[in-house]
Amino acid sequence: MTRMKIKYTEASQNYSRIIAGVMRWGQWGAQFSSSQYQAMIAACIEHGITTFDHADIYGDYTTEAEFGVAFKEMDVSREDIQLITKCGIRMLSANRPLNKIKSYDQSKAYIIQSVEQSLKNLHTDYIDLLLIHRPSALMQAAEVAEAFTELKAAGKVLDFGVSNFTTHQFALLHSHFPLVTNQLELSPLCLESLSDGTLDHLQLHKIKPQAWSPLAGAQMFTQQESLADTERIMRLQSVCGDYDWTLAQMAYLFLLHHPSIISPVLGTSKAERLSEVINALHIEITDEQWYEIWTASTGKEVA
Ligand SMILES: NC(=O)c1ccc[n+]([C@@H]2O[C@H](COP(=O)([O-])OP(=O)(O)OC[C@H]3O[C@@H](n4cnc5c(N)ncnc54)[C@H](OP(=O)(O)O)[C@@H]3O)[C@@H](O)[C@H]2O)c1
Repeated sequence: MTRMKIKYTEASQNYSRIIAGVMRWGQWGAQFSSSQYQAMIAACIEHGITTFDHADIYGDYTTEAEFGVAFKEMDVSREDIQLITKCGIRMLSANRPLNKIKSYDQSKAYIIQSVEQSLKNLHTDYIDLLLIHRPSALMQAAEVAEAFTELKAAGKVLDFGVSNFTTHQFALLHSHFPLVTNQLELSPLCLESLSDGTLDHLQLHKIKPQAWSPLAGAQMFTQQESLADTERIMRLQSVCGDYDWTLAQMAYLFLLHHPSIISPVLGTSKAERLSEVINALHIEITDEQWYEIWTASTGKEVA
């Protein structure tokens, strides 16, 4: 079937279609040494995965700096990779003793100060893409836009986006400042954005989404909490069996087939798993196969 090609808004940087998430590389997961960071960064680049997804809070505010120290010693130019980071969550942490409860802060001063810290941590002069990590009920869109404008003018951040924003929250900030993505939770076990209008709204604005937890944070592979969840995984496994896909491959194919041009943000800390997703880039599935995955996930045929 020939598909209509929509011209999507181009961000200022060339982000790789597959993005490496680093959330589990440090203290919140694999606890990489510097040489392990370097080996994983090198493996990603070898697989054409040049965009790395950070957040200030990962590893209890430590992962950016560990990555930055490791990358600085590598023989890779800064221009050959793209760095995403996020800000706006104030987490309870021994590393942030002034935070009394977990809350959101999207004031201009906080955003700018958070970016300055990320630049130091990552040993870089610029962040390619800054995301507001979670929507705040108290967000003053004009003030966020002022922070973005200042950071862009100073060359400290090249592109801006959001994460976990609803359609209306996205539209509000986008009306003040052009955003290039909304990073959303999306996988065969998390389907909401496919039907609540979020992805349609991004398509309307020709903006490409990013999908975090594309494998549902490993939930697809672990013991399920209820019989219903176990049966759901068994139905998905049965579809995989029909086509000789692995569960992970099926999840990536499901995301990559969607017309909104989704970039999966990988969670693995194992280099040997990277080829599975790169291979999926070369497999075309049919709309009917996509609906087989959908039907297996929901447990019922579409209306
Ligand atoms: N914007 C946000 O609010 C937000 C929230 C959460 C995460 N994120 C971003 O999204 C990235 C990905 O999230 P995620 O880590 O939850 O992604 P994920 O890919 O859904 O889950 C990763 C987990 O699955 C395991 N895994 C991967 N392949 C597997 C396989 N074939 N068999 C068994 N286990 C497998 C990984 O373990 P191994 O290391 O052993 O492969 C890891 O524990 C994060 O790194 C972060 O950058 C963003």
